[in-house]
Amino acid sequence: MDIQNVCVLGAGLMGNGIAQICAQAGYQVALRDIEQRFIDGGMNTIKKNLGRDVEKGKRTQEEMKAVLGRIKPTLDLAEAAGNADIVVEVVIEVMDVKKKVYGELETIVPAHCLFFTNTSGLSITEMAAITKRPERFIGTHFFNPVPVMRLLEIIRGYETSDETLAIASEWGKKIGKDVIVVKEAPAFAVNRVLCTMINEAFYALDEGIASAEDIDKGMVLGCNHPMGPLALADLVGNDTLLHVIEGMHRELGDKYRPAPILQKLVRAGRFGRKTGKGVYDYT
Ligand code: CAA
Repeated sequence: MDIQNVCVLGAGLMGNGIAQICAQAGYQVALRDIEQRFIDGGMNTIKKNLGRDVEKGKRTQEEMKAVLGRIKPTLDLAEAAGNADIVVEVVIEVMDVKKKVYGELETIVPAHCLFFTNTSGLSITEMAAITKRPERFIGTHFFNPVPVMRLLEIIRGYETSDETLAIASEWGKKIGKDVIVVKEAPAFAVNRVLCTMINEAFYALDEGIASAEDIDKGMVLGCNHPMGPLALADLVGNDTLLHVIEGMHRELGDKYRPAPILQKLVRAGRFGRKTGKGVYDYT
């Protein structure tokens, strides 16, 4: 299958990064969100990232212009997805919201179009089941910051065909990622390990074992992690993290119960860097 047109649904933290790397790889990209401010935020981030590359001499001004020229921001779902070869859906991590989007998409996209859902842990099979193309539906889990992190975790749903898996893997390589293929399971492979560790760091904080700074310092200096787990939670978004951990708790049992302090941070609107405050204050 010759992929030319990629539709990315959601211009937030992950969506704008995916749109950027697809455009860098030469695809025509439609970037759609539901409000102009989200579109503007996403496009500004892409411009900032590309501009930094130009300053560092990694890319020319002309290349930056060409990459930006391949991204068409829009609020209109029909315009974004009408000629898509693949749709990469990056909407909020809530099953019902994602299902609603697939219901709308089904009437818009061409018959050959593939659906790639970017999710940190929701069931690919459950989403695919409400579409008429479960064999052309697959999970593609990116990591934050998308332009920097090398991994793409690909998750096969129950009905995903071998052909869809092959196309998604090829596409992943073309956009510059190393691919691992995992079976569907709550939080898949990477988040099963990573989010459990981050949740444990929140428990350590809650129990007063050490300060946030020292927990993070310990994991950076003692385990060579590039950043501490609590700083990483603020980068990923505490709201997203809580969704993932709640999903593991629901499906895998009490061992994965979210730490109370994480729940409190989310209730307080302290989602992390994106809201200016999380475990740490970025204002
Ligand atoms: N967007 C784009 N590029 C970025 C960036 C961003 N938000 N943040 C940093 N970069 C780039 C920098 O420009 C720099 O590029 P060059 O190498 O070309 O100079 C490079 O990344 C390194 O950045 P810095 O020197 O500023 O800082 P650093 O060395 O401390 O790296 C980091 C920053 C890449 C974020 C690093 O700390 C890191 O790897 N942290 C861990 C990130 C991680 O674990 N991500 C996975 C989260 S889990 C997830 O996303 C899945 C989920 O479902 C929850």
